[in-house]
Amino acid sequence: MHPAQQTHPFAPDGWFPVELSQHVPEGLVVQSMLLGQELALWRSAAGSVQAWENRCPHRSVRLTLGFVVDDQLVCRYHGWRYGRDGRCTSVPSTPTLAPPPTACVRTYMCRESDGVVWASLARAPRAYPPRVPGLVACRSFTLDGAFEVVTNTVETAGFAPAGEPTVWCEAAGKTDVATLLLQPMDACTTGVHLFISETLATAHRIAAAGRIKALFAKEPCHV
Ligand code: FES
Repeated sequence: MHPAQQTHPFAPDGWFPVELSQHVPEGLVVQSMLLGQELALWRSAAGSVQAWENRCPHRSVRLTLGFVVDDQLVCRYHGWRYGRDGRCTSVPSTPTLAPPPTACVRTYMCRESDGVVWASLARAPRAYPPRVPGLVACRSFTLDGAFEVVTNTVETAGFAPAGEPTVWCEAAGKTDVATLLLQPMDACTTGVHLFISETLATAHRIAAAGRIKALFAKEPCHV
């Protein structure tokens, strides 16, 4: 178990939403946060998304400052390259020498489904992350509130967990019934990803986004 998980009441083999797929296009490196662990998410030319510790093993520079070349991530500082398994493949200053075997980025398990990038800090997470089929991402925002505070708010508003502590569904009845994916970023910050039915018109999506944001009016919010 990763040390950051020990202070949270989550299953040690759980999956967590860390970004929407549409926000991790091919060739970009995107910063995220999960359970106090800063992540660098990136998509290779082949299309697969990786979730890595956001730290170059050479001099600890953030890998989100780097860039993607084909299926490798290049650190911006000294240009060390890392393959999808996190191992260093090239050191530009010593091109004739093999990269040191200890030059390896910490990698995490990462999956994509239903337009969501899921990651786990566990070495052996469950086989599959949760599913949210038939839904479409409507809006994401970050709250200055602990995961437990946010779940209390959504539960009071009539949401119930859908088999996972990170997936909350609103009771049926509204046209724009919402599903929330909650991302425990750190001890006092929670990401909220709002999903609604993919069949709803734009006006309903806007209405749902306004309604859900109003739920969290007491917690400072960043879009
Ligand atoms: S700090 Fe990343 S290559 Fe030097």
